[in-house]
Amino acid sequence: MTWSTPDGTPAEQPDLVLAHLSDTHLTSPGVRYNQVLDADAALDRAAAVLRAAVADGRRLDAVVLSGDLTDSGDPDAYRRLRAAVEPLGVPVIYATGNHDVRAEFHRSLLGRGDDGPVLQVHRLGGLRIVVLDSTVPGAGQGRLAGEHLAELTVELAEPAPAGTVVVLHHAPLPPPSPLLSYFALESASRHALARAVQETDVRLILAGHHHLAQSGTLGRVPVAVAGSTAIRTDPLGPAGHERTWASGAFNLVQVFPETIVVSVVPVDGAPVVFDLDADGCRRVIDAHPAP
Ligand SMILES: [Fe+2]
Ligand SMILES: [Fe+2]
Repeated sequence: MTWSTPDGTPAEQPDLVLAHLSDTHLTSPGVRYNQVLDADAALDRAAAVLRAAVADGRRLDAVVLSGDLTDSGDPDAYRRLRAAVEPLGVPVIYATGNHDVRAEFHRSLLGRGDDGPVLQVHRLGGLRIVVLDSTVPGAGQGRLAGEHLAELTVELAEPAPAGTVVVLHHAPLPPPSPLLSYFALESASRHALARAVQETDVRLILAGHHHLAQSGTLGRVPVAVAGSTAIRTDPLGPAGHERTWASGAFNLVQVFPETIVVSVVPVDGAPVVFDLDADGCRRVIDAHPAP
C-alpha cells in the first residue's frame, strides 16, 4: 500500500538506510564473551533480523560497524565477522575499537598491511562517511591523534553533496558507568573533535564502546551511539557498579534529505504484539478519516 499522511503530503522516504552495529566482540574459538556469552550467536541474531527485513522488501544500503568487532583481535574472529555481515550484499564499513588489534583489523577487514591510524572515506550516493581510529594500541581509552584530526579537517574542507557522517569507536559523550568512564575518549580529543566538525557539513556522528544505545550532542552535531549486539550496560546499576545485561541491539539510520532518523532495534527475542498486513492497515486508516 502507499503510505498515507494526515494532510495529504507524500510520505517521506529516506535516501539511504544504514544498519549501525557495534561491539560485536567476537571471541576466539571455544572462548565465551565475558565467560558466559556466545557473541557469534548474538551477531547472528542481529544479522538474521536484517536478512529478514531485506527479504521482506525493506531497504538497506550499507552496514556500519563501529569497533570492538573482535574481543582480542583473533584473525579467525574477523573471518567469522565477515562471513556474518558480508552476505547481506551491501557495502560494509568497518571501524576499529580498543578490543581490536589494529594491524590485524587492517589486514583482515581493510586489506592493508600498515598499523598506523587510518582515516577512511566512503561515499554512498551523495553522502560521505568518514571513519576515524580512536584507539590507543594496548589501552582501553580513546584518543584522536593531532595528525589524524588534521587529516579529518583537510577532508571536511570540501563538503559532500548530501553531507557527512563521522564514525568512531569511542563515543564523544560522557560514559554511563564507572569502568567506561575510565576507558572514555580523552577530554582533549573530544573537544578537538568538536572543533573539527563544527561549521562543516557533518550531520551526525556514529559511535559505540558504551554498549548502550544513547544519543547526545557534540557542540551542535548530534551523536548516536549503537548498543552492543551482545550486551547492554546498565546506566541505572548501583552507584559504583559496572553491570551489564545479556541484551543485544543495533541502530537503524535513515538518511532523509532534511534529517537523519536513528531508531534503536533491540534484538532480544521479544514476542510480537501485532503485525497488520496492508489490508489491516487500510481498515485502521479507513476507520479514522482525517478531519
Ligand atoms: Fe566494546
Ligand atoms: Fe570499546
